Amino acid sequence: MNKQHVLELKSVYASYGRVNVLQNLSFKIEQGEAVGILGRNGVGKTTTLKTIMGLLVSTQGSISFEGQELNALAPHRIPHLGIGYVPQGRGIFPNLSVKENLFLGVKDKAPDDLVAYVFERFPRLRERLGQPGGTLSGGEQQMLSIARCLVMEPKLIILDEPTEGIMPKLVSEIRAEIKKINAQGIGILLVEQNVKTALELCTRILVMDKGKIVMNASTQSILSDPKMLAEHLDIKI
Ligand SMILES: Nc1ncnc2c1ncn2[C@@H]1O[C@H](COP(=O)(O)OP(=O)(O)OP(=O)(O)O)[C@@H](O)[C@H]1O
Ligand SMILES: [Mg+2]
Repeated sequence: MNKQHVLELKSVYASYGRVNVLQNLSFKIEQGEAVGILGRNGVGKTTTLKTIMGLLVSTQGSISFEGQELNALAPHRIPHLGIGYVPQGRGIFPNLSVKENLFLGVKDKAPDDLVAYVFERFPRLRERLGQPGGTLSGGEQQMLSIARCLVMEPKLIILDEPTEGIMPKLVSEIRAEIKKINAQGIGILLVEQNVKTALELCTRILVMDKGKIVMNASTQSILSDPKMLAEHLDIKI
């Protein structure tokens, strides 16, 4: 068991019925690292995150967090190990209040200093605590989804396209918060369509194609040789 590698996927396969999506997918994320996953639409990025969170059961391979095998665990236990998940489309319960959404995963009362910290990060939420989650703007819902992870004191937060379809002003706020969260030592696994955002927030980039990793490189090496990415993605840098 290696405690240093916080999250490790080894030769993971997963499918929806008979359609194989993840095929021999392997990667590691070390403690506190910020890693970005890029890839064209439909290559299996969301499926990867769902499989880590136990929402889809892998058919082969192993997924471990701090040496503990996740495959055998019920999905609701996984956030309690320290993995926060901000799903694509945010996963807010529209009819529950902002406050109810925020503390959904917390069994006992969240410590006051933690609540204060979260509101300091996202003052917009404090002002809207009684409002139904569904009435928040897209960007505010995204903040709520991130804040809901933070109150559980995660070691790693997994985010699926957190700035998708959000107005530019809130995009930069969300980006800045993700950066601050990582600066505090919380690991980040970020699925992004926006290459610039991924390069700005992450120190390592994985590119997926057809259910597996086809490139794994440091952001530094990509910035010094941007053609690397263009080989795998339809982008101009
Ligand atoms: N519930 C499902 N049932 C059947 N097939 C699915 C299901 N969810 C996803 N798929 C298929 O699995 C493949 C991978 O989907 P996934 O959502 O992981 O892609 P993605 O890389 O996240 O794409 P995007 O960038 O568009 O979000 C796609 O071909 C998709 O059609
Ligand atoms: Mg997706």
